[in-house]
Amino acid sequence: MTPPATAQHDTPEPSAAELIAARPHLAMHAMDGLVIEDVPLNAIADEFGTPVWVYSACSMRARYRVLAGALSDAGLDAHIHYAMKANDRLAVLRLFAAEGAGADVVSEGELLRARAAGIPAGRIVFSGVGKSEREVRLALAEDIAQINVESAEELDALAALAVAMGRTARIALRVNPNVDAGTHAKISTGRARDKFGIPYADAVALYRRAAALPGIEPVGLATHIGSQILSLAPYRAAFARLADLVRTLRAEALTVAVVDCGGGLGIPYRDEPAPPPAALAGAICGALGDLDVRIMLEPGRWLVGPAGVLLASVVLTKTTAGSRFVVLDAAMNDLIRPAMYDAWHGIVPVSAVDAVAPVAPADVVGPVCESGDTFARDRMLPPLGAGARVAILDAGAYGSVMSSAYNARPLAAEVMVDGANRSVIRARETHADLWRAESVPHWLK
Ligand code: LLP
Repeated sequence: MTPPATAQHDTPEPSAAELIAARPHLAMHAMDGLVIEDVPLNAIADEFGTPVWVYSACSMRARYRVLAGALSDAGLDAHIHYAMKANDRLAVLRLFAAEGAGADVVSEGELLRARAAGIPAGRIVFSGVGKSEREVRLALAEDIAQINVESAEELDALAALAVAMGRTARIALRVNPNVDAGTHAKISTGRARDKFGIPYADAVALYRRAAALPGIEPVGLATHIGSQILSLAPYRAAFARLADLVRTLRAEALTVAVVDCGGGLGIPYRDEPAPPPAALAGAICGALGDLDVRIMLEPGRWLVGPAGVLLASVVLTKTTAGSRFVVLDAAMNDLIRPAMYDAWHGIVPVSAVDAVAPVAPADVVGPVCESGDTFARDRMLPPLGAGARVAILDAGAYGSVMSSAYNARPLAAEVMVDGANRSVIRARETHADLWRAESVPHWLK
């Protein structure tokens, strides 16, 4: 597979000490080893076993406040709708709900989860290229804040349903601005050839039509050009195109009250340069600041990615001619990002002794029967014997939510840490959980 066209793979590999120093919720203690907030990861592994996902609540809260602060400091009337696909655990949603966040949902399941976690319907936006009739009915029945419409076909179906249900759907048109976000091809969404959004050239006519449709109230425009974006240039290009559309629509006396700027802000997995929220707020201001629109943002990764680690134990270290393989008890079924996007995640030893031992290259792999089950190649790591523990960093976003039970491996437990508090927020699956929904046909019994 072609490596992603980002700065990620060009920057030198940071050391474990540098990775820890750049993450305020992590620290290496001489006695306790790696700690997250006030809790040693060894204590979590002893208590809950490995592999286990561990999230820092303080980090999530702090990141939310930094982002919200950057938007308000820029003078924007901005609302954050957490893209819960990044990490949809009820505890995580609850934490953001308490901060005042809304949610960006993409399925019936996410909508129900958001409501179950206490996010008011009036703060929920529904995105997605293929909402089913059942999903649209639920969104209308719940009277959520906004539905982001991605096609003329969807608009017509939505209008018919809204009329039938006696509801009015507040919609934004998600526009495809034909901008390359410069990220991995699999998470680019704003190029004309991507499946997402309404072609830029069709947006004005469709907005005009939406305004005339019964059951539909167009409130504004939306876009989302991709994920793990590390440069502001594509954002600026996309926002400028949206601003032009706002002006064109208003010149026709159409109401445009909202611009949903999507998500996508990247994080420095490899401590590479990444734009801070204040820079994104500046880009929004520069393009849309004088238009008197309410700004919506749908960040996922930026809020939760750095706040989580996947804590794993070494099963064994295997040496072949010229290679050292550190085989973990975590695998691609837990964290698929390296296999799927060639993603780089920091991997640091948990023990303080391991942390100061001399390093040499190793391939860090899982036990799953695929060569793609590789977390890192030629990573500089100390000798890690059976039972040693490592933390795979920046695993809070698109980690546990993308897990599968491939190779009949039950989903790992998830733990939230908040200061000195720790609590399981999702219990480890059991083997019986894995076949609970299965049955053997009577003729085979
Ligand atoms: N809004 C919409 C409409 C989206 O499709 C997405 C992400 C977001 C917001 C949030 O984007 P974020 O701020 O998290 O970049 N599994 C991939 C990432 C997929 C992103 C999908 N859409 C990964 O692990 O890198």
